[in-house]
Formats: sequence, structure tokens, C-alpha cells
Amino acid sequence: MLEIGRLTVEGLEKNIVTDERNPHISYKVKSDVQNVCIENCHIVVSDCLGNIMWDLNTKKQIEIPYEGKRLEPSSEYRVDINVKVSNGEEASASVKFSTGLMTKRWPWNFITDGSYSFTEKKVSPEPMVFKKSIKAEGKVKKAYIYATALGIYELSIDGNKIGNRYFAPGFTSYKSNLQYQTYDVTEIFAEKNEHDVRFTVSGGWAVGSFIYSRNNRFVADRQALSAVFYFVYDDGEVDFFGTDSSWLVTRKGQLKMADLYDGETFDSTVDIESAEWQKAEVENLRVNPEISAECGAPVTEHEVFEPVSEKLLDKTDEIIYDFGQNFAGIVRFTVKNAKKGQVIEIKHAEILNPDGSLNTSFLRSAKATVTYICSEGTQTYSPAFTYMGFRYVAVKGVKKEDFDIKAIALYSDIEERGSFECSDEMLNKLQQNIKWGTKSNFVEIPTDCPQRDERMGWTGDIAVFGPTACFNFESGRFLKKWLKDVRSEQLSTGGLPNTVPANGFGFPVTMPTMAIDWWGDAAVLVPWALYKSDGDISVLQDNYEMMKKYVGACRKWAALLSLGKHRFIWHTPSVFHFGDWVAPDVPKMQQWQKRSKWTATASLYNTSKTLSEIAQILGKEEDAKEYRKLSQNVADAYESIFTDGNGKLHEEFQTAYVLPIQFNMFRKENKEKAVDNLVKLIEKNNYCIGTGFPGTPYILFALADNGRADVAYKMLLNTKCPSWLYEVKTGATTIWERWDGLDENGQCPIGDDGTDMMISYNHYASGAVGDFLYRRVAGIEPVEAGYKRFRVKPLIGKDLTYAKAHIDTAYGVAGSEWHIIDSVFTIDVDVPVGCQCILELPDGTSKEYGSGHYTATVKL
Ligand code: BGC
Repeated sequence: MLEIGRLTVEGLEKNIVTDERNPHISYKVKSDVQNVCIENCHIVVSDCLGNIMWDLNTKKQIEIPYEGKRLEPSSEYRVDINVKVSNGEEASASVKFSTGLMTKRWPWNFITDGSYSFTEKKVSPEPMVFKKSIKAEGKVKKAYIYATALGIYELSIDGNKIGNRYFAPGFTSYKSNLQYQTYDVTEIFAEKNEHDVRFTVSGGWAVGSFIYSRNNRFVADRQALSAVFYFVYDDGEVDFFGTDSSWLVTRKGQLKMADLYDGETFDSTVDIESAEWQKAEVENLRVNPEISAECGAPVTEHEVFEPVSEKLLDKTDEIIYDFGQNFAGIVRFTVKNAKKGQVIEIKHAEILNPDGSLNTSFLRSAKATVTYICSEGTQTYSPAFTYMGFRYVAVKGVKKEDFDIKAIALYSDIEERGSFECSDEMLNKLQQNIKWGTKSNFVEIPTDCPQRDERMGWTGDIAVFGPTACFNFESGRFLKKWLKDVRSEQLSTGGLPNTVPANGFGFPVTMPTMAIDWWGDAAVLVPWALYKSDGDISVLQDNYEMMKKYVGACRKWAALLSLGKHRFIWHTPSVFHFGDWVAPDVPKMQQWQKRSKWTATASLYNTSKTLSEIAQILGKEEDAKEYRKLSQNVADAYESIFTDGNGKLHEEFQTAYVLPIQFNMFRKENKEKAVDNLVKLIEKNNYCIGTGFPGTPYILFALADNGRADVAYKMLLNTKCPSWLYEVKTGATTIWERWDGLDENGQCPIGDDGTDMMISYNHYASGAVGDFLYRRVAGIEPVEAGYKRFRVKPLIGKDLTYAKAHIDTAYGVAGSEWHIIDSVFTIDVDVPVGCQCILELPDGTSKEYGSGHYTATVKL
């Protein structure tokens, strides 16, 4: 039977609102017959009256840009597809989408509490509540609210929250890009024509205190809100109006304090109706961003955790709850028998002290505290304008028997698309930890960590982690939205801020024009990871100019004040680099940075080589040649200057071997010797990891792909510190920032080591090993972007007796599952319709398959 698996517009199956003039359509097809391919897909797009806007016959399946008649704003459309495959079967499906306001100029005012001026440093503003009774002047056929803010807003109608999104309008580079949300409130206004509409607006990222220096008022001096109401009546009349000075505003509501790092204070005893309300004032914004329909992945509620243990700490009278998992989110609690004015305080942390109390020292300035002032009786509360990274909470001010608490994971709506499992339970736990690292740090933007006073869009972290994220999660919308900000924030010289959105974070303030290896490389590596995983060429097209400017800047910095081959050694002073960031074999930050000559030069090779491939794909032959030449020069310089010309580095450390080996920068005969030298270093290090951010994603590939699968497996399965499985052995439920973050007693041995307590237990970067689990252990990797053609070639080794991975690719599920029983290797592969799979077996033979499920067996 033939079925349409998933039909999407702009990557979504439902609730689709877009401002794109050429939204992209994709579909997946499932068939139980082998070897079918698409004969034709008939796509028809029509408007709400059934008029045909576009009609296309195509064999393409993914990212088909709509090219029909001009789409109108605030309108509904329908996409119908009929797919015919090679065995004659057919299937049909349809999906609806709406257009947003489709205008570059936001059509309405922003309003604020004009009496509020707030100048205090390092804190967030008092939350504001705006209200108005909104009336529809006729029988409603359609009613939409479009809303945005500088600050974080929540919309409620008659006391009920509308939508399931947290942190609207989302985190973007507010000077350039601001999103608005669309709420379909047709049912509400069709039932009754007048409603109490309210917006609560906190400071959020735009106005509140954010980044570790706790800057505030980054793009506005106080919160500003704008909403547009669009009503279509049964008689065809249209009403279009928005926020103005007829709205009322108060700062005396129940929400007393809301701050992304510090938490929330909520006083339920406050009667907001009798609070002082005053007229809102129109606010002139300091910034002039492009305001467009939400294009990323909104943050919503996901997993719910019940405590796995609860303990009363006599000393402090706190109840300590353990949720069994470190994650980003909030608590939700119900309190019974409460007395009016009773104060409940909840603190959050990732680890405990030896006496069982919370260890909050690594949160730095983030207070991560929820304070709730009860009214009489039973009540339920959860914060809505903040989140924390935690596993444990300490609750004060309530009796255990009167208190019921849960925790809820909050993260961007990224669909889980990949799974990996094997016969080693510790590796399976590592895979789960990698997934939790992603969930906890895909909150609006790709962050470094969810707990301390950072949670910033550190570019280096996602540059190295991108491929792994794309195996496990459908990351297209989430990363494309972030890349839009990366483009907006690129400096005219080609350099990039180290965090995007920078949101006032000055670094590298001393050298604002600087390009920084690996961190800036996100400009090339993130679009490339996304393209390879999803096959969406628009991600290369949209980012190509940015990549060129960035690589151009790197090349200039490398060449600065140098001659001959030294022009291709990127040698700017190490204070302007992160180098081999968090490499565990040298303890000091300055030592990580000192390795920048090697990491930066290898980065220049990698970005220029990748860019030459991208140029080739985009048909830009001249560019392709130029960047290839540049990469060759860099490779030659690395080998001539850093090695003895015989595969041995003058200064040896794991990353300095891993990068050139993995990127193929050495001549063939020297590469083999370099691999031997790397192996010697690893053996000397007891098969423990010695790489920082740049080397970690590649070390196992550098070994396994060069005849040393044995060493790769020994490292992967090592449980001595530092290693991936040491963290698992020590009870980690996510990936740590520092390999030695906890000793075997669960305590942090690092202390104040000059990194400003940079110790987080939820930092995905070294989880980049996930790429190896999919591509080598399970053996599944795209050969052509989006898995149009993919290879299955498992790397059997050590004592693993089975491994399996499935990825719900843009075409459908691609899978590999192998078992070894009595020296017989059996493998099952799944190939989606429209794809080809090359299966390479351990005996050196290979087979090529079209779509379907296949099994092959080899005697080992
Ligand atoms: C962050 C990192 C980041 C690094 C660069 C840290 O504070 O948490 O993950 O990439 O700084 O300096």
C-alpha cells in the first residue's frame, strides 16, 4: 500500500502561518513494495474559494518552492497532492496553510506604561499587564490576533492563556529581526462577540537582565507591546485595529518579578482588578527590526517528570526533590491548605552537596528561584516567563503532605527524528544524555547551557554539535531561524559575534572586526550540517554570501603580517581565540587558547574546503576553484610548519593530529605516520580523551577511518576519566561542559580554576560524538544530501553484538540494524521511497538497493 507520510509547508504539518511568498512544500511517501520511485506528484494549491493558484507536476519530494499566483495576506490556502509511483499505485493528501500579515512594515503601534522609567542595573523590569475589552462588530467568520513585543508576552482571553507557546515572541537579534505570533481566535469571538483580552509582558531578553554581565534594557528602556486584531464578518466586512492608548496598563499585578536567570515571584493574593490601571502610551521604539511571522520552533511543554525521591533536610527545613533527569524547564505545583500570605520558595540546581542540600555555586549570579505567595486554600502554579536548568529543587515554606510538585521540560518544538541503540547499555545511556543535552539547549536558540547566567547563543558549541543535533532532531526551522540572526549580526568585515543573538555581549570587544576560528565557523558548518541532513539547498543559497565573507575574513587574519607559507598559518594572538577549548589534558584556560595556531589553521582549511564544495553544489565554479586552492595552501602550510615533514608534530597533542588527519590535510604517506603518532599519544593517555571543542567531534573518525577502529572503540568505551562513559558511570543524565565535572562521589573536584566557575552539567558540545554513533557504529550516513543516496557500513568492533539506528529523513525512515550471532553478521536496512542505499558488508562486498526493507547476512 502507498501512503503519504508527512506533507508539510515550511516544515510544518499544522498551524502553519507564513510570510514567505514562496513557501516550500515537502512530502514523504511510504510503500510496502520494494524499489518504488516517484513517477509524478501533482501539486495543486488553491485559495479558500477553491480557485487554483498553482498546478505543478514534479518528481521532486522535498523543498518544492511554491511559484504560483501571488499569495494574499491573512488568507487561507490548501495544498493537495496526488503521488503516483513506479508500480502504478497512487496516494493523495492535503494540508492547509495561512499567510500572515506579509508586510515588511508592521502596521500598528507599540504601547507601554509611559509612567515607568527603570534605570536600575543588572535586574529585570517590573512586569506589565495590558488589558482591553475587545468587541467584534458583527457575526465573526474569522478572527485573528497578531502580536509581538519587546519583552516576553503571554496572551490571555477571559483569564485563559491562548496558545501553548512559552516566551513569545521568541529570542532573535531584535535590532534586525522580531517575530510575531498569529492566534486564530475565531471560535472564541464566534461564540460571544466581546472578550477581556490581556497581555502580561516581562522584560525577557530584550529589556530584562541577560548575558553574564547582567546587562539590561538592551533594545528598549521598558517593555513594548503591539497587537493587531483582524476580524472578517459574515457579510464580508473586515475590521482591522490594534493596540493604542485606549488600552489600560498596570505594574501592580500578581506577577511581581520575572527574570530569565533569577526566576519569578508571584503574589496570588493581589487583586489585579482593584490595582491602579492607567492609560497605556504609544512607545517610539529605539530599534527598527523587520517584523515577520514566527519562522522558528516555538518553545512548548514537553516531558513531565514526577520526583524520583523527596527528602526533608532538617537543618534548613527544606524538602529536596530529585527529578532524576537534568533538563531545562519549570516546576508546576499544587499546594493544599494554604494560608493567605504563606510564602513558598523553590530553588533549582543541577547537583547536590555532600549533606544533601542544593549546590548552586555553579549558577553564578543566576538565582533560579521561584517565590510564590499563596492565597487561601488549594492552588496550582507554574512560572511562565523564566526557565531553569536543573534536576533538583529545594522547597521551603510548605509541609510535604500539602505539596505536590512536578517538573516540565520546556524546549523548542524540534521533532525527535533519530534513534540509536546498541548492545552496550552505557552507550545507550550516552545517547539519551546527548538527546537531553540537545533538548535542554534548543530553547529558542542553540544555547551553551540552560542553568547559569549564560544560556547564550555561543556559536562554537553548535558549530561542533550541529551534525549530531540533525541526526537526533528535525532541526530545520530551529536552525534556519537562528542563521537568519547570524546573517544579520555579521560584521561588515566578515567576522561574527561569538554569541548570536549577541544581545549586547561585547566580546570580542577589543577587536570587533575579528573573525574567530571554530566559533565563527558556525557560519559555514551549521548550514552545511543542515544541508547534508535535510537536502534543503536553500540553506546553502541563503547563507552563501555570509560564508564567503566569513572565510574571506579568516583568510585575511591568517595572512596578517606574515610572509610565504606563514600567510596560511592563522597565528593572531591566542587571547583572540578559544583554541582547544576545555581540552582535559591541560588544566588552564590560557593553555587551551595557546593551541589556537593549530586549531585556527585547521579551521581555515576546513571552512575553505567545505566552502569550495558548497560553491560547486551551487554551480559557482570560480569560487569553488579559489577556495580549493586556499585550502590546499593551508594544508601545505600546516604540514610544513607544524610537522617534521614525516608525520610528526613538533608540538604534540591530540587535537593537533586529529584535525589534519580527519580533514585529509597531510600527504598520504605522512597521514599514516600521523595516525600512528596519534595512537601513541592516546595509549600514553590510557585511551582517555584529550581533545577540546574542535577535536572532540572528529577523534574517533580520525582513528576508525584510518585503520584504527580498535583504538576508536577503546576510547569510546573507556570509563576512566576523562571519557564519555566516565560521565555515564558517574550518573550523568546529560553531557557535561568539563570532562571531570564530578568525581566518583558525585562532587565537583574543579573549584575555582580561573574560568569563573565555568562548570555546567548540561553542555552539549562534547556530545558531538553522537555523529560517530550513527555514522560508524550503526553505520548510516548520507552520501547525497538529505539521504537521497546513503551508505550503510557498520563498524563492528570491541564486544558489540548489535547496533541499530533509524532516522526519519526528509524522504522517510532510513534505518540500519545489525546483529552478530555465532559469528554470523545479519543486517536489516530500510530505504525510503525516492532514495538509494549502498550497503557495504564486513566481507568487503557491497549491494545497492532502492526503497524498501532488505536483509543481508555474512559469515564473519
Ligand atoms: C560557554 C561555552 C562557550 C565558551 C567560549 C563559555 O562560557 O559556556 O560553551 O563556547 O564560553 O568561551
